[in-house]
Amino acid sequence: MNIFSEKLVAWYAENKRELPWRDTTDPYMIWISEIILQQTRVVQGYDYFLRFIRRFPDVAALAEAEEDEVMKCWQGLGYYSRARNLHAAAKSMNGVFPTTYEGVRALKGVGDYTAAAICSAAYGMPYAVVDGNVYRVLSRYFGVDTPIDSTKGKKLFAALAEEMLDKSRPAVYNQAVMDFGAIQCTPQSPNCMFCPLADSCSALRNGLVAKLPVKQHK
Ligand code: ADE
Repeated sequence: MNIFSEKLVAWYAENKRELPWRDTTDPYMIWISEIILQQTRVVQGYDYFLRFIRRFPDVAALAEAEEDEVMKCWQGLGYYSRARNLHAAAKSMNGVFPTTYEGVRALKGVGDYTAAAICSAAYGMPYAVVDGNVYRVLSRYFGVDTPIDSTKGKKLFAALAEEMLDKSRPAVYNQAVMDFGAIQCTPQSPNCMFCPLADSCSALRNGLVAKLPVKQHK
């Protein structure tokens, strides 16, 4: 195992956020949480998640609901196409959540990130999540200044993320990198003073923490 993911997972064991969708491998619950978290922060999404799964506890309950009930439960979260897509996707499932990556990725409203998050957390499949947190952590640690919004950068970071993924525990690794980016390796004033990866962080060594990741279009 590489040092990067080993230290990351060790950090997570000490610092993880206790979140209700982390105590389950139910793909339905994980799906709902990931759709909420696409555009909503954890603190705001938390109560909505609990309310939503209480009201619609499984695929069948959501599929059978009226659209306006679903929309009412989403009221205040914004980006309402998420709720419409959830409802449409639930109806398309015939009561069973898809069990393959391709099946999950094909759901309305699910992109690469969300498919990787669901398949790793629910099924233990070795797909690495790649989002803003991952770009930031990887670009700093490895000192990569290729723009994250270039074609070359997207490919490079996707490959690096796959390479770093701890394939023996993809669920834990993915949650670890999300929390590390959200709590420790933050965009502004990251906590480098007390960072377990500081020893081997390229950006810290070279004074480039504030300069990475690079974006070509700001
Ligand atoms: N943001 C997106 N997915 C998340 C998750 N599973 N936990 C915390 N933050 C997230």
